[in-house]
Amino acid sequence: MSSRPEPGRRMLPLLTDNHHGRQAITCQYRCNNACSHEAPNTSDNEYFGDVVRDVVRRRGMLKAGAVFAVAGAGVTALGGTAAAAPAQNAEAEAHGRGRPDRRDGLNFDPVAPNTEDRIVAPEGYDQSVVIRWGDPVLPGAPKFDFDRQTAAAQAKQFGYNNDFCGLVPLGHNRWLMGSNHEYSSETFMFKGYDSANPTEEQVKIGWAAHGFSVVVVEKDFWSGKLVPRLDRHYNRRITVTTEFVLDGPAAGSKYLRTSADSTGRKVLGTLNNCAGGVTPWGTILSGEENFNGYFANSNSGSVDPRVARYGAPSATTSRKWERFDQRFDIAKEPNEFNRFGYIVEIDPHDPKSAPVKHTALGRFKHEGANVRVARDGRVVVYMGDDERFDYIYKFVSKGRIKHGNSQRAREENKKLLSDGTLYVAKFTGDSPAAEIDGSGKLPSDGEFDGVGEWIPLASGDKSFVDGFTAEEVYVFTRLAADKAGATKMDRPEDVEPNPKTGRVYAALTNNTDRGVRPGKEGATEPNPRIGNKHGHVLEWEERGNDPTATKFSWKLFLVCGDPSSPDTYFGGYDKSQVSPISCPDNVAFDKRGNLWISTDGNALKSNDGLFAVPTEGRYRGRVKQFLTVPKGAETCGPVIEDDFVLVSVQHPGEFDEASAENPLSHWPDGGTSQPRPSVAAIWPRRGKICD
Ligand code: FEO
Ligand code: CA
Ligand code: CA
Ligand code: CA
Repeated sequence: MSSRPEPGRRMLPLLTDNHHGRQAITCQYRCNNACSHEAPNTSDNEYFGDVVRDVVRRRGMLKAGAVFAVAGAGVTALGGTAAAAPAQNAEAEAHGRGRPDRRDGLNFDPVAPNTEDRIVAPEGYDQSVVIRWGDPVLPGAPKFDFDRQTAAAQAKQFGYNNDFCGLVPLGHNRWLMGSNHEYSSETFMFKGYDSANPTEEQVKIGWAAHGFSVVVVEKDFWSGKLVPRLDRHYNRRITVTTEFVLDGPAAGSKYLRTSADSTGRKVLGTLNNCAGGVTPWGTILSGEENFNGYFANSNSGSVDPRVARYGAPSATTSRKWERFDQRFDIAKEPNEFNRFGYIVEIDPHDPKSAPVKHTALGRFKHEGANVRVARDGRVVVYMGDDERFDYIYKFVSKGRIKHGNSQRAREENKKLLSDGTLYVAKFTGDSPAAEIDGSGKLPSDGEFDGVGEWIPLASGDKSFVDGFTAEEVYVFTRLAADKAGATKMDRPEDVEPNPKTGRVYAALTNNTDRGVRPGKEGATEPNPRIGNKHGHVLEWEERGNDPTATKFSWKLFLVCGDPSSPDTYFGGYDKSQVSPISCPDNVAFDKRGNLWISTDGNALKSNDGLFAVPTEGRYRGRVKQFLTVPKGAETCGPVIEDDFVLVSVQHPGEFDEASAENPLSHWPDGGTSQPRPSVAAIWPRRGKICD
């Protein structure tokens, strides 16, 4: 566990001195100040690690690591453990002191943490901006003019604060690129913005700046750049006024009917779309996350008390949309609130198709959704609910995937997420509770690990939760999961299966309330640090490596932070040879199964960044920083191809003291320009990103 490099060895670059974490202005616009309120999970379902640990011991299961090693037919045994670190040290020593070591197959040397106002990429890599807020998406879009914005123009241009990015292949070096536009930050979008009295046009620009964009992109052979095309057929903007279909078992429910939609099956728009995933059948999934912040009067006496489980009740909103459309006033239109908080499916191949909100995947603050196909053809969707002390879910389809790329197969596969079984995760540790002391110190068995089970909540129109009808499970999913005894986690963000091994990885961003705020749960083996500032990455393997299984074994792969701090863990790898990492948010994989992690709110004095880490073999746990994004920005939506990486640079320059009058980032256009959220590409001048 020593953090000091041995003499002559090269310590990976560490920290600078300028501290910033998540800014208050980001909290206001993005998540309605979620962290300044008590976390809305006030349920008393407890962590049962102790109890089950004894059962596990009696059964002689001893250690989840053993389950991992034997469970995965066709899966390589796990690599590095704490015990393996000395051997790695010796190899690193033998390799040569001070020289970059790329034997992990990741063809870059780590970049140093910094606070620069640019993307800092590794030596030997080029970069370009693919598309920026305000760039044209639809034919006829006017040139972006910061000082003369209109809602009509924004509805044809790339929206604000792009988060998830996904590529759907369209041909050789040609893709449909889908981007979420999570939220608008009016203070940075408009000079002279009066937050108490926004104009109707400003509000309508906000509606058009939210949602989703589909843009055809092509790789330019000569320059290596990824270039957007103004494609008349495929390019599309989805906004807060686009019509969506509600489908699945709760569609048409009394909880989803409004004065504008007596069917409970049609809803306008999507809100706060954060991460997502590309399905094997070529559609894009997108998670509606902090939707609660858009609804006024959630504290009204007449409002359903279940609303409070989705965020602190409040009379007001930041953007005041309720003044221009009363569906955003929960006291006047109580059920509109229930029509957000879903996984949305968009078919980028068919720009005329209505996007779908899948009630079968439950309603919570969906971060993202990622699919794995089981051996029997059923599809499994992994999902996180991004709130302190909330849960990890999965959905298993009833139907089976149709293979092939035909339109017919895609139309059939688009029905897969409409019917199936929704589960929530329960994690149990295998170490004595006394050894999980909240400091992050590893227990005596050397790992934070254990077993888990998937608790069914509902399947089709059958509920498994006492006191809940099936439609109540799908619409008030958080409350059903409370009742079922799910494990309270430290903000589950992106959850994604490794396409090479099948093991699943969940980013748990942070939870500074754990064991700190009175009445809230303390340290548990799956969430072992009190006041968890830097987050961790959880890894699990389904029994038999079958994603439809209801049992699994798990371990913490990374416990993030400054590697010189004793409360961190990097898959057992030598901590003097890893990059510092804080607040993991989105995860992605390259084709070799290396995990890529982007961060949100780095609490280690550096800009946010993108990191890569092998998950198998002798370099398992060796985290290397690939890039940093400009100051004030968050790294989102990583896409890892063989010869380029895409990142969404969200909210550059979003500092509390900044505004449109006082921009504190000038990325990407430089000079005195306003910052613009963008998608950027980074690629190696020669060769591939990993071997
Ligand atoms: Fe939009 Fe959970 O981050
Ligand atoms: Ca343990
Ligand atoms: Ca996120
Ligand atoms: Ca992801």
